[in-house]
Amino acid sequence: MTLPKCVQLCAAFCLFTAILSAQVTFSHDVAPIIYSHCSGCHREGEAAPFTLLNYRDVAKHGKLIAAVTAARIMPPWKAEPASYPYKDSRRLADADLKTIQTWVKLGMPEGDRATAPVPPKFTSGWQLGTPDLIVKMDKAFPVPAEGADIYRYLRIPLNLPEDKWIQAIELRPSSRQVVHHVLYFADTSEDARRIEAEQDANPATGMRISRNMVPLGGVAVGAQPHLLPGGLALYLPKGTDLMFQYHFHPIGKADSEQSTVGLYFAKQAPEHTLTNVQLPVAYGLFSALDIQPGQKDFTVRDSFVLPVDVQAISIGAHAHYIGKTMKMTATFPDGSVKTLLQIKDWDFAWQDRYFFENPLLLPKGTKLASEVTWDNSDENAKNPSRPPVEVRWGEQTKDEMGAVTLQVYPAAESDLATLQTNYRRHVREIAAAQIRKDPSLMVKVRELTGGN
Ligand code: HEC
Repeated sequence: MTLPKCVQLCAAFCLFTAILSAQVTFSHDVAPIIYSHCSGCHREGEAAPFTLLNYRDVAKHGKLIAAVTAARIMPPWKAEPASYPYKDSRRLADADLKTIQTWVKLGMPEGDRATAPVPPKFTSGWQLGTPDLIVKMDKAFPVPAEGADIYRYLRIPLNLPEDKWIQAIELRPSSRQVVHHVLYFADTSEDARRIEAEQDANPATGMRISRNMVPLGGVAVGAQPHLLPGGLALYLPKGTDLMFQYHFHPIGKADSEQSTVGLYFAKQAPEHTLTNVQLPVAYGLFSALDIQPGQKDFTVRDSFVLPVDVQAISIGAHAHYIGKTMKMTATFPDGSVKTLLQIKDWDFAWQDRYFFENPLLLPKGTKLASEVTWDNSDENAKNPSRPPVEVRWGEQTKDEMGAVTLQVYPAAESDLATLQTNYRRHVREIAAAQIRKDPSLMVKVRELTGGN
């Protein structure tokens, strides 16, 4: 009797891994994985709670390391492998994961210390070289020892004498341990001032959004800043205020944060203009978000057909605590379907933006479709309400919103207006349909847009 092929293969594989595992050591196998995937955050002065820079460090936390890597909690990287590779992916390869598991099972042998790779050296100081402009928060923001995480907008006026194009922002926290992530916005209206004043008066105001605040990206713990690819840059008109949305994390002792920010300007205006296709539009404001307690899979979908050829640069997702999954697909004119982003286990604490390895051409007629789900049951460990309560759309962290945002530029700059007009029409159609059903939404829209 011949065994089925899959059994033969499996047996061969087991034999192969048995031979391999006999030799798994820290020096030969595990150190290269840890040094390239973990040490960047797990070192002195960074946000992680302990260092992973030598055999002793790693062996001390071995069991926990095996558990958190298997669960893909560490390294933090929420995007599943999709149809196109991302830049600087932190995700561990399946083979690396297996190596760690095997090593821990074998009792964490060190192996030959003399042949171990040297622990990596990290650049201190500005990662992208000397910035063109350095600004600093004018006063430190206090972060108490205990209590819930704090979400807070802080404004930094730039006093730019002329218009600029920005290629990168590098934020250097004064206390890396309390700053979990920061989202950047540019504001040329009065909204940044208004929101700051509101939060000064009432710290629980939460995460206001304003259509006047242009997103400029952000940084999560341990993420490397990088320049926008291909000479791309974001417009920063003179008089712009920078608005930073901070997520602070109390660390058991009182601390404070006074960030320094480096701005890198493009020498000249870029040839292409970046813009966003966000689905569902307006972070789901018009998606009838009303999630009943116990509801496990509240789902919102939206789609948009590209009216012109675009190049996609990056993709990111957003939701609050009970967001569960996010996905965006592209259905090409020939009918083939590709996944641009998939997150199966959203974590509000790790809001990364994922840059495609190469700009991705999405031809005219490509249908972008997104799906966001929320889990408002008590099985969701991240649900802040016990027992769960009804959750509706809103800007507070206990409210919900959600969307996937694709950052693109039109392949031909002359197509920009067509792209933006079509997208705005899509927003208006969705909004009008929903406002017909729920006229109270109009009040919300006015609030968010300052009445205009
Ligand atoms: C992007 C930064 C970053 C990277 C990369 C990273 N960590 Fe972490 N790690 C953290 C932070 C921050 C924490 C503290 C817990 C938190 O905020 O989620 C942490 C916590 C941990 C913990 C403790 C978890 C617990 O439940 O107490 C372990 C173990 C760990 N990391 C292992 C690793 C390993 C192994 C790698 C590489 C395979 C890695 N980390 C990569 C930032 C990082």
